[in-house]
Amino acid sequence: MKLWEGRFTQPSAKSADDFNQSLSFDYKLYWHDILASIAHAKMLGETQIITKEESEKISDALVNILADIEKGTLPIEGAEDIHTFVENELTKRIGATGKKLHTARSRNDQVATDMRLYTKDSIVNVCDQIKALITTLLDIANNNVRFIMPGYTHLQKAQPISVAQYVNAYSEMFLRDLERFTDCYKRTDVMPLGSGALAGTDFPIDRRMTASLLSFSEISQNSVDAVSDRDFVAEYIFCCSLLMAHLSRFCEDLIIYSSEEFGFVEIADGYTTGSSIMPQKKNPDIPELVRGKTGRVYGDLTAILTVIKGLPLSYDKDLQEDKEALFDAEDTVLGCLNIFNELLQNLSFDTRKMRNAAAGGFATATDVADYLVQKGMPFRDAHAVTGQIVRYCIENGKTLERLELHVYQSFSTLFEEDILQCVKVGRSVEARKVIGGSARSAVRENIRSITRRLNRMFKE
Ligand code: ARG
Repeated sequence: MKLWEGRFTQPSAKSADDFNQSLSFDYKLYWHDILASIAHAKMLGETQIITKEESEKISDALVNILADIEKGTLPIEGAEDIHTFVENELTKRIGATGKKLHTARSRNDQVATDMRLYTKDSIVNVCDQIKALITTLLDIANNNVRFIMPGYTHLQKAQPISVAQYVNAYSEMFLRDLERFTDCYKRTDVMPLGSGALAGTDFPIDRRMTASLLSFSEISQNSVDAVSDRDFVAEYIFCCSLLMAHLSRFCEDLIIYSSEEFGFVEIADGYTTGSSIMPQKKNPDIPELVRGKTGRVYGDLTAILTVIKGLPLSYDKDLQEDKEALFDAEDTVLGCLNIFNELLQNLSFDTRKMRNAAAGGFATATDVADYLVQKGMPFRDAHAVTGQIVRYCIENGKTLERLELHVYQSFSTLFEEDILQCVKVGRSVEARKVIGGSARSAVRENIRSITRRLNRMFKE
C-alpha cells in the first residue's frame, strides 16, 4: 500500500511505480530508519501526542521487525521505499496503532534523518579503516628508517630520501583524510527530524528528546533548509574522493616501482594476476583497479553536486538520487582500503636495488652545490658549476660518486678531499636534519608525530 493513495482516483502506472521506487537501494537504510522511528515513537509517547501504551506497542513491534530483517525471515520487498515498507509492516502487525507512527513527521524529514544517521556510522567505519592503513604504514616506516631510495620530482631522480620518509608521506595524506572525515562528521551530526514536510509541525514534539535518543549532537534550526540539505552527502563523497586520490597515487607508485625496470618493490603473488597469453607476466591488477575505481567515486561526487545544483527549495524528488551515489562511494572506498591494506602488509622492498638506484644518477648534485655554498660561493654560481660537472659526468660516463678529486678541482678550487664523502647518498640523506627532512633523526620524529596525531584523533 502506498502512503499517499487517498487523493487519487486512478492507480499509478506500473512503469511509473518502477521508476519512482527507491526500495531496491534504500533498503540499506532499514536499520537507521527503524532506529529513528523507535526514537520518534518514544518521543510521541513521552509528549502524550500518542498514549504511552501506543508508543510502547509501536516500539516493540519495530524492534521485532528489525530482528526479523536481521534474521533474514522478513524480506524487504513490495513497497515504494524503505519508509513505506517499515510502516506497512508495522500496520500489518499491530493494526491501527501502527498508523499513528507517522504523526508529526514527513518522509522528507525522515529520509534526511536516516541518511544522516547512516552517514555518521559510515564515517566511523571509514575512519577505522584509514587508521588500520596508517598503522600498517607506520610498521613499514619503522622497519625502513635506515634504507635509502631515490626521491623523484617529474619522475626524474631528484635527491636520495629515506624509504620511511617516503612511506610517511602517504601517512600524512591519510591523516589529513581522517581529519577531513572527522570534520564532515560534525556537520552531519545535526538532526532534521521535526522539520516535517518543510514547514515544521504543529504538534508539541520534543526535538531535543528525539535527538538525544538518536545521539545527535545538534538539531537543525530551519525546517526548509533541513529537508533539502544534502551538503553532508556531497562533503562525505568529496572526502571519499580525496582519499581515493591518495590511494590512487600510491597505487601508481607501486605499479611503477614493481615494474621490471624499477624493481623496488614486489607485490606478493596472492595479490597479483598472470596473463592468459604471456607466461612471464605478473600483473599489478589490484593497484590498477584501485586507481581505476577512483574515477567511479569522482563520478559519484559529480552526480550529487549536479543533483543539488539548481534545485528549487525545499525537498524535491531529485534528492532520492543522493543514495546510490553515497552507497557506491562508501562501498568503493571500504573495498579499496581493505584490499590495499592487505596488499601493503604483503609487500616486499628490494632495499639494495633502491639504494643502487639512488646512487646511480646525479641525485647528490644539490649536495655538491650546497658544498660550494658552504665554502663561500653564491648559490646561483654553485648551481652553474655543479651543472657543468654533471654534464662532464654524462659525457664521460662517470657518476658524482666516482669522479676523482682533481676533476672536481678543475671546476673549482674550492673543492677539497671531503667532497668525495659529500656526494655519497648516505651522507646526503643524513645531512637533511631539518624538521621533516630525510635524516634518520628527522624521520623517526616524523613517525612519532604521525603516531601522536593518530592517537589524538581517536581519543576525541
Ligand atoms: N524515497 C524518498 C527519498 O529517498 C523518500 C522521501 C519521499 N518524499 C516525498 N515527498 N516523496 O527521497
